[in-house]
Amino acid sequence: MASIADPRETREPAATGAADLSGQKGPELCVVVPTFNERDNVDLLVGRLDRTLRGIAWEVVFVDDDSPDGTAEHIRALGERDPRIRCIRRIGRRGLSSACIEGMLATSAPFVAVIDGDLQHDETLLPRMHNALKEDAADVVIASRYVETGSPEGLSSDRRKRLSVYGARLARRLIEADVADSVSGFFMLRRALVDEVAPRLSGIGTKILIDILASAMRPLRIVELPYRFRARSRGASKLDAFTGVEYLLLLAEKLTHRYVSYRMLLFFVVGLSGIFLNLAVLRLALFAGADFTLGESIATAIAMVSNFFLNNMLTYRDCRLVGWQAVRGLASFMLLCGLGALTNVAVARDVFDLTGRWLLAGIAGAAIGALLNYALTSIFTWGRRP
Ligand code: GDD
Ligand code: MN
Repeated sequence: MASIADPRETREPAATGAADLSGQKGPELCVVVPTFNERDNVDLLVGRLDRTLRGIAWEVVFVDDDSPDGTAEHIRALGERDPRIRCIRRIGRRGLSSACIEGMLATSAPFVAVIDGDLQHDETLLPRMHNALKEDAADVVIASRYVETGSPEGLSSDRRKRLSVYGARLARRLIEADVADSVSGFFMLRRALVDEVAPRLSGIGTKILIDILASAMRPLRIVELPYRFRARSRGASKLDAFTGVEYLLLLAEKLTHRYVSYRMLLFFVVGLSGIFLNLAVLRLALFAGADFTLGESIATAIAMVSNFFLNNMLTYRDCRLVGWQAVRGLASFMLLCGLGALTNVAVARDVFDLTGRWLLAGIAGAAIGALLNYALTSIFTWGRRP
């Protein structure tokens, strides 16, 4: 009978002790705040959350992309005194959407909100958003500038206002639900929904809400609560000219259900620009009296360097190489593209031998070479997963 163990004795005291004895509960609501150079806004935001979320067990997760102004250090100092304040510091990474995703995945709270760190969103809406979810009136609650008394007045220019309205209209066709402000950066949902859509999120650009709504494989119940978007009083907006392009790439990727990855698309566009640059420099070199081999060598090298920097700036802008990393990256890029070029020639020669058609052979060689360049440089130059 000695073999029948008393369950009370074999239980690991640490494993059950923590859950049973302490009576502690995790937070009910997690507020995710992406930040880049927002140090001067952090205290104000935390103070406002504290006031507006009385009665709710909340935590805030800041996701900071290693802001040079010391935002992360500042948040850490607050966190030393207050366990509700957490910070994820990402190094060598940039991106509003991907920051939100990492923040949302870092919590155990059943409800998750996303809000900007620059006080442009009206945080007093949070309790009502939370109620709507708790009463199961919605799957996602969006703070909306485009319903009822809502307003985008705080957007910095008329141009931004127009872009915002057209951007929301464009996305409306993509998302099955009827949403007025799908480009809002302020919303709340259940953590279970985050977990459900997470594997399908693109994480590109700034419009994480669209990413989520378009990644859900079922119709979602959406409630929009009106609010007035405030003007920014401290710091500056981080969005730039490329933000619009990223937005279109996100929509394209969502529309094609990821058959086309936006990176591959950008890589090929940059590749095309390289071909034009190569031809232009060759033409110039020949014009200046260089012999063909020298001219073509210079033109190829210049096109490769240009391709590297364009890809580093655009295609891999969220994990851009800087300083020595960029120098090493350029060397590996040129080496790998050289390999791609050799493959290009080999494939083209084989196809030409087989079919006798030069155009087909040329296209086949270029396509295989470009794919190889994309695959190899994404892994070895920019360190992406295969
Ligand atoms: N971690 C991280 N990384 N945070 C970022 C990044 C980044 O690359 N870029 C911006 N942020 C943070 C900012 O620090 C701020 O807290 C928030 O994201 C919004 O960025 P802003 O630079 O203030 O953008 P905006 O005001 O022009 O546009 C915002 O408001 C729109 C209207 O609701 C964005 O949040 C849009 O997504 C939103 O639709
Ligand atoms: Mn802002």
